[in-house]
Amino acid sequence: MRFILHTYGCQMNVRDSEAAAALLEAAGHTPVQREDDADLVIVNSCSVRAKAEDKALGKLGLLCASRRDRPERMVGLMGCMAQRLGPEIFKHVPGLDFAVGTRCAGAIPRLVARVLAGETGLLEVSDLDETPDVIKARTDTGFSVFVTILLGCDRRCAYCIVPDVRGSEYSRPAREIVAEIRALVRNGVREVTLLGQSVMNYGRANSVWEASDAPSPGGFTEPFARLLEAVATIPGLLRLRFTSGHPSGVTDQLVRACATLPAICHHLHLPVQSGSDSILARMRRGYSRADYLDAVRRLRTAMPDFALTTDVIVGFPGETSDDFEATRSLMNEADFDNAFIFKYSPRPGTPAAAWEDDVSEAEKMRRNQILLKDQDVRGVATNSRLVGTVQEVLVEGPSLRNAARWSGRSPGNKIVIFDPRPGLDPGTLARVRITRAAPQTLYGEALSC
Ligand code: 5AD
Ligand code: SF4
Repeated sequence: MRFILHTYGCQMNVRDSEAAAALLEAAGHTPVQREDDADLVIVNSCSVRAKAEDKALGKLGLLCASRRDRPERMVGLMGCMAQRLGPEIFKHVPGLDFAVGTRCAGAIPRLVARVLAGETGLLEVSDLDETPDVIKARTDTGFSVFVTILLGCDRRCAYCIVPDVRGSEYSRPAREIVAEIRALVRNGVREVTLLGQSVMNYGRANSVWEASDAPSPGGFTEPFARLLEAVATIPGLLRLRFTSGHPSGVTDQLVRACATLPAICHHLHLPVQSGSDSILARMRRGYSRADYLDAVRRLRTAMPDFALTTDVIVGFPGETSDDFEATRSLMNEADFDNAFIFKYSPRPGTPAAAWEDDVSEAEKMRRNQILLKDQDVRGVATNSRLVGTVQEVLVEGPSLRNAARWSGRSPGNKIVIFDPRPGLDPGTLARVRITRAAPQTLYGEALSC
């Protein structure tokens, strides 16, 4: 069949969609670029906020309705929403052919075959297919890839549905990850982003190093720092990133690994969620405002150029204007390079869903707007400080807005626009002198190599 996947949600979902696409191709199906050309459409869904679920439901409704004109079209759902709703999903989306949960993407080709044979309304939410072959499946990748190293989440923040939909933590064996990345680099990959919901928890829930593994050359003993070292020193890998972070993972070893291993980019997405101690406690985040700022200070003391991005939730149950002002001031102190601001959305079954959602929608909106505006001002300021510096940019190719200019990413994950030069091919590193800064973008001139 000709198929297309629509992906909502986080990078983990992007990665899972890629694995699903590779498994479908291996089963003889063909990917297409345009939905009109597809006779199998799969939506990979996110459950983190009600709005994300509404989007997926709207899309699925339209797809099922499109079968009035093309009755042979197959429609499937994968990801967090399928896992969360289970059999109930078929009440929300009558006519849905199959639904596959988060840790069983390996079942998709089998389900497609069964629908082709005449069945419909099929559900698979067990984690039987979480094999290395499924985790590693990928299509032709380009030079920058995601590698999932830690599945699930054990943290249980009071507002969050993720532990319910992605299960408990499981860390892949270190040898398997290193072998996978070595093979990717041999095939031309230059940048790897290691993925986990709380990626620095790698190796805490199950052991990942074997007694026979050589000791770490840099003297690292923590499983995640050891893994960073083992991956960052793979010859030919230019850049290593990891996401998402948690302040408890910003250990001395982690800081030392980032500061001393040249392939590791000086950037971390470190969701703070709130700057108020009482809200942080009720969110069950496991750190205080001072702990968070201490992690920031230790990263920036060791690496003054360290870029930080974050997530913030406004309007958590009981959030007062003082709590909100505490978040505002923390964001200033941490001097974030970028921030994603979310309005609190109660998720059924989470502890916080039992508490009154007492901040009005209008007030959530107002707080959201204030933080966005603050961040715009801060973004210009943090970017302006880079004017005059030379940034090492991993070249991506022609910029989306203006194909005559090229774009790439700085180590701090900022988009850099510059004029192409001979020899600067996609996947190579360019040195670019920054001449101008906008809130989300840097502009500059590529220097001769
Ligand atoms: N409501 C609003 N935002 C949420 N997030 C997670 N759960 C919720 C919720 N119930 C946000 C957090 C997280 C990001 C991926 O989504 O900020 O870091
Ligand atoms: Fe959404 Fe969380 Fe699932 Fe990612 S893990 S798709 S953010 S619910």
